[in-house]
Amino acid sequence: MCGIVGGISSSGTVLAHLVEGLRVLEYRGYDSCGVAVAEGGSVTVRRKVGRLAELERVLADGALGQARAGIGHTRWATHGKPSDENAHPHSDGSGKLALVHNGIIENYLELRRELIAEGRKFHSETDTEVLTLLVGREYDLGKSLGDAVRAALARVRGYYAIAVISTGASPALVGARHGPPLVAAQTSDGAWLASDVLALMPHTRDVIYIEDGEVVELSPGKVAITNLAGEPVTRVPLRIEWDAEAASKGGFAHHMLKEIFEQPDVLARTAFDRIASVHGDVAFEGAGWDDALLKRIKRVQVIACGTALHAGMIARYMIEGLARVPVDFDFASEFRYREPCLAPDTLALAITQSGETADTLAALRLARELGAYPASICNAIGSTVVRESEATILTHAGPEIGVASTKAFTAQVVAAFLLAVRLARARGMIDEARGRELLDDLRRLRPRMEGLLSDNTVHRVRAIAERHLKAKGFFFLGRGLNFPIALEGALKLKEISYVHAEGYAAGEMKHGPIALIEPGMPVVVISSTGRVTDKVRSNIEQVKARGGHVIVIGSDADSRSLGDESIEVPEASEWLSPVLNVIPLQLFAYHHALMRGCDIDKPRNLAKSVTVE
Ligand code: AGP
Repeated sequence: MCGIVGGISSSGTVLAHLVEGLRVLEYRGYDSCGVAVAEGGSVTVRRKVGRLAELERVLADGALGQARAGIGHTRWATHGKPSDENAHPHSDGSGKLALVHNGIIENYLELRRELIAEGRKFHSETDTEVLTLLVGREYDLGKSLGDAVRAALARVRGYYAIAVISTGASPALVGARHGPPLVAAQTSDGAWLASDVLALMPHTRDVIYIEDGEVVELSPGKVAITNLAGEPVTRVPLRIEWDAEAASKGGFAHHMLKEIFEQPDVLARTAFDRIASVHGDVAFEGAGWDDALLKRIKRVQVIACGTALHAGMIARYMIEGLARVPVDFDFASEFRYREPCLAPDTLALAITQSGETADTLAALRLARELGAYPASICNAIGSTVVRESEATILTHAGPEIGVASTKAFTAQVVAAFLLAVRLARARGMIDEARGRELLDDLRRLRPRMEGLLSDNTVHRVRAIAERHLKAKGFFFLGRGLNFPIALEGALKLKEISYVHAEGYAAGEMKHGPIALIEPGMPVVVISSTGRVTDKVRSNIEQVKARGGHVIVIGSDADSRSLGDESIEVPEASEWLSPVLNVIPLQLFAYHHALMRGCDIDKPRNLAKSVTVE
């Protein structure tokens, strides 16, 4: 997934704004980047493999500093390796037009053959260059840039967010979307385009979300949207309440660390206003979670990816345990291709931080086609998943910049708990008193989360991470609600430390994987007070009997005494223990990666929101 920026101004130059926009979006992909500006009758491109700093060195000569219209791009490679030639923007060779793209043009090979047959020359392996020459061909016929883009996109199969700049009598800036996100904004003397609202916030908080199948034409003070047929579309700007400070590091060494420490506040923002404690129930804003609908629901189908799916797995324990509604979960990338059978009256629950993950969006669309009620738990108010859901529970985690998800995950788990209580109350599975008890447990979670973020805990976790810095691999084991936490702890370590780690159901170890345990191998075991504690203690003994080095995370003192090392987690309702247990695991992955010298916020090969398949 990549980052796109664009700008056009009547009163000032745009280059610095493009670079700052790319800096904000670098979390979306960072193997190469570039800009193109329209100035003095031509479009000039500068692009470079590597991080934004490399591009800034190229731009330091100031040659592009007077331009008043331009586009920029930071890349996560899909077609063609990271290189200067494959970096965006791409031009059509005329010097009058350049284009940046996020997504995949699925029929690019046939279009490439068609263009080569007409004598067009290619300089890269990318599908983006094919799209650029397609637009250039239409533009050369004398069409306006907007018309040229619409005509070219009519030939395209796939999905894309693009920005195109052209010169001519006056520069033109056009965007289009079918899949990956694109937002626009107008100011008194300019107009701006980006993949993410964060890049628009230095200009304005009133943003216009471009929807699939739309083309947007930007001129100073004006944003005009049409459909692919060129018919005008009206869209009211949405006010974004986040502030830029919320997206900055706020004094922490990394976004990920800041986001780990934000979790107590995120809990409060996501849960406390929704706890209608007078009735021992939950009040969600917006339609779609009322008793009438929820009483009809016979099944829940969770669809998500990665960390979000781990939250979905916890949701199953909560919803089945409290509301007694059957829950299935599946990787969205599997669900969308396995021809799923959905029972009538199924609620499809897409869980996603970004609301733009291609697999999750496609799975939600398929579930809707199969008759399910499409709903979501999401952190991005204007995202596609939210706009395509009949009902959404927004997590108020604020912008999550670190690629490794932390605060968004715990917010998703809290939102799932709220949904489980709401569903249980709507179906009469729990009464007001029990509802109030559960919601009081949720309120009491915040000081416990803050306790886990104390210097003492952080130092203990860091010491354990340091002791196992050279380990070749880790197991993370859990049961019940904390089995998904074992998966999440392993994923956190993998994605930022690049060390092999496997999350496993503790009860399953004896069916094969325990063969991997050798003397000294670090095995992290999550053990909270609850229905399966004694089983987890047995699993700890089984691992120790084979020489494994057991690190216990949890509230159960007996389990901790069995371990070689441990981190105490405060007692809490078993339902909510995952929200606490994950925090030491997040800190463990952070400090392990830091000591290994890995890039915490932009781990290699990853991107924050995977808007491609
Ligand atoms: C989480 O640490 C990863 N970055 C990744 O697994 C992520 O959770 C997944 O790509 C889903 O993203 P989403 O929540 O934005 O849909």
